[in-house]
Amino acid sequence: MSTREIVEIGHPVLRKRAREVTREELGSDEVQGLIDDLIETKRAANGAGLAANQVAEPLRIAVVEVTRGNPRYPYKPPVALTVMVNPVIEPLDDEVADINEGCLSVPNLRGEVPRHLSLGVRYLDREGREQEEVRRGLTAGTFQHEVDHLDGTLFVDRVLDPRTLTTWAEFERFHREDFLERAARIVERFGS
Ligand code: NI
Repeated sequence: MSTREIVEIGHPVLRKRAREVTREELGSDEVQGLIDDLIETKRAANGAGLAANQVAEPLRIAVVEVTRGNPRYPYKPPVALTVMVNPVIEPLDDEVADINEGCLSVPNLRGEVPRHLSLGVRYLDREGREQEEVRRGLTAGTFQHEVDHLDGTLFVDRVLDPRTLTTWAEFERFHREDFLERAARIVERFGS
């Protein structure tokens, strides 16, 4: 296992649709090693998730994991490590909420992004088993962010009001309190 370089906004690989992984590829040492590296790279960077094209591998693989007290997103409830291969998401209803997001590939910027709060998620796990689950609340937002990456979309593309863009330091100073209240209401309601 090793950490890999996280590429940043402007790198073309972040703007292309990543391709599906075949079951045969998924069983290969190369792809299993990539999954290990994604997990290690995400953990080293304190991310909530990481998509393979963020380490310049244009495959539809993403990992999500949030541990309690994550330094980047301390308000996010824990999410057990989830490795998704060829994920497909589907909103379960029309309800959306503005969520303040950042991204390891968009250094020092955050902004308000509308995200669905109830999501059906289907994917293959790293052993190739089909998984189907429902993700809600802030966690649903995290899953949408990662699947967006695989489609070449960054959170800045979904910011409806560019005036909500803020550096991390100014978020802490001016916007954190308001967002934490909104985030807490979502977590209270959905438990995630
Ligand atoms: Ni991201």
